[in-house]
Amino acid sequence: MTLQIVIGTQWGDEGKGRFVDLLSAQADVVARFAGGDNAGHTIRIGEDVYKLHLIPSGLIYPQTVGVVGSGTVINPLVLLGEMDSLRAAGVVVNPDRLKISYAAHMITPAHMALDRAREASLGKAKIGTTARGIGPAYVDKARRSGIQYHDLLDLDFFKERLMQNLEQANRELKLYGAEVLDVAAIVEEYLGYASTLAPYVADTSAIVMDALDAGRHVIAEGAQGALLDIDHGSYPFVTSSSCSAANALVGLGIGTPDKMSVVGIVKTFQTRVGSGPFPTEVEGEMAGMLRGDGSQQWDEFGTTTGRARRIGWLDGVLLKRVVRMNGVTELGLTKLDVLSGIPQIKFCTAYQPAANVISPLLARTEIEPIYETFQGWDKNIMGVTQWEDLPKAAQQYVLAIEAHCGVPVRWISVGPERNQVIYR
Ligand code: GDP
Ligand code: IMO
Ligand code: MG
Repeated sequence: MTLQIVIGTQWGDEGKGRFVDLLSAQADVVARFAGGDNAGHTIRIGEDVYKLHLIPSGLIYPQTVGVVGSGTVINPLVLLGEMDSLRAAGVVVNPDRLKISYAAHMITPAHMALDRAREASLGKAKIGTTARGIGPAYVDKARRSGIQYHDLLDLDFFKERLMQNLEQANRELKLYGAEVLDVAAIVEEYLGYASTLAPYVADTSAIVMDALDAGRHVIAEGAQGALLDIDHGSYPFVTSSSCSAANALVGLGIGTPDKMSVVGIVKTFQTRVGSGPFPTEVEGEMAGMLRGDGSQQWDEFGTTTGRARRIGWLDGVLLKRVVRMNGVTELGLTKLDVLSGIPQIKFCTAYQPAANVISPLLARTEIEPIYETFQGWDKNIMGVTQWEDLPKAAQQYVLAIEAHCGVPVRWISVGPERNQVIYR
C-alpha cells in the first residue's frame, strides 16, 4: 500500500500540479481530497499547456484513474467544461477513468453570489477569495444544508433539496442587499447536469482503499497550501478547507496506509494571492523581477483569477513549521530557474523579536524577518538535468533550504515543462 501525498507548503501555487503530473508516471490512482475550483494547477508537456481546477493533474497520463474525493466541493459546470477541454486535448475522460465521490458537495450559482456579496460587505477587510463559492459551499456542508453528488441519483429528492438550498441563499442575499437568484432557472439548469454526471458518481473511498490494498500507487493531490489551511493557516485569510497532509486521509475516506510519504512542494520564493499577513513580502523592482511581466506562461499571475500574485522571499520559519506539522518526508522545489539573474537571494530563517512561531501568521503582530543572504547566479539553468551542472551558488541555496528544514530535497524543478527537473 503506497500513498504519496503531495501538498503545497506555502500560500498555494507552489507548482503542485506540475509535480503531481511528474509523479503520476508511476501512479495508478490520482485523487483530489479537498478544495474546489479555487485551485488552478498548470501542467506543461512540450508546448501543450493544461490548466486544471478540479480534475486531478495525474489524469493526463493514460494509465491513471482520477478521483475527486469526498472532501471536495465541485461546481458541475466547471467540471463539465474541464472534461471537455481535456477531451479536446486528446485525454480520455469517461466514467471508467474519472470518479466523483458520492459525498462531495455541489457548488451552485448561489454559493458564488454569496461569496461575492460577503466579500463586498467586508470592504477593506475582505479575504480576497477566488469568488468561486468555496466558502459558502463549505458553510452549507457544515450546517448540513449542502447538496451532495449522490443527490443527483434521485431527481425528485435533488430538485427538492436544491430548491430549499437556493431559497435559503436568496434570503441571505437579501440581507446583503444583493440581487436574488432565479431559483426555477437554476434548478432546471442543474437537473440538466444529472444525466451526464450520474455515471461518474462513485464510492471513491472504496476505490482508493481497494487500490491501496492491491498494492497500487495512489497519489493524493493537495490543493491550496498549508498556510491557507482553515485550522492551521493565517486565519481568517485562509480557504475554507484543510489543505494539510492529514486531511488527505479524511478527505478521501481512507485509513492510514502501511506505506506513506508526504511530498512538500516549495517554491524557491514566496507568493500569495488575496489578503493577509506576508512578513517576507517585497515590492518594487525585485517583486517585478520575480513575478515576471506576464509574458511567460509561468509568470506570477493567478491561473484561476488572473490576479497579480504578491511576491516575497522564502519564509524558512513558516516552512520548517509546515514540514513538521505535515510530516513532510521530502521536498520538491520549484522555479529555481526564476532566480537566475537575481544578484542576491534572501532566505528568512528567523524573526525579530524571536517570537512565537505562529506570529508571522497573525496580521496584528509586528515582526521583522531576519534573512540569510545568498549569492545569485547568472546562468540560465532551464536546460540543466544534473545536480552537478547547477551553478555552485544555486546548489548552496538548495542545500541551505534542505539543512534548515531537515528533510531531503529530492527534486528541483527548473522549468514548467514535465522534463525540466533534476532528481537528487
Ligand atoms: P499549483 O497551483 O501549485 O499547481 O501551481 P500553479 O500551476 O498555480 O502555478 C505554478 C506555475 O509555475 C505554473 O504556471 C507552472 O507551469 C509554473 N512552474 C512550475 N514549476 C516551475 C519551474 O520550476 N519553473 C518555472 N519557470 N515555472 C514553473
Ligand atoms: P492552488 O491549488 C493560491 C486563496 C485565495 C484567497 C483565499 C480564500 O492553485 O494552489 P477561497 O476562494 O478559497 O475562499 O479564497 O485562498 N486561494 C488560493 N491561492 N492558490 C490556490 O490554489 C488558492 N485557493 C484559494 O486567493 O486568498
Ligand atoms: Mg495554482
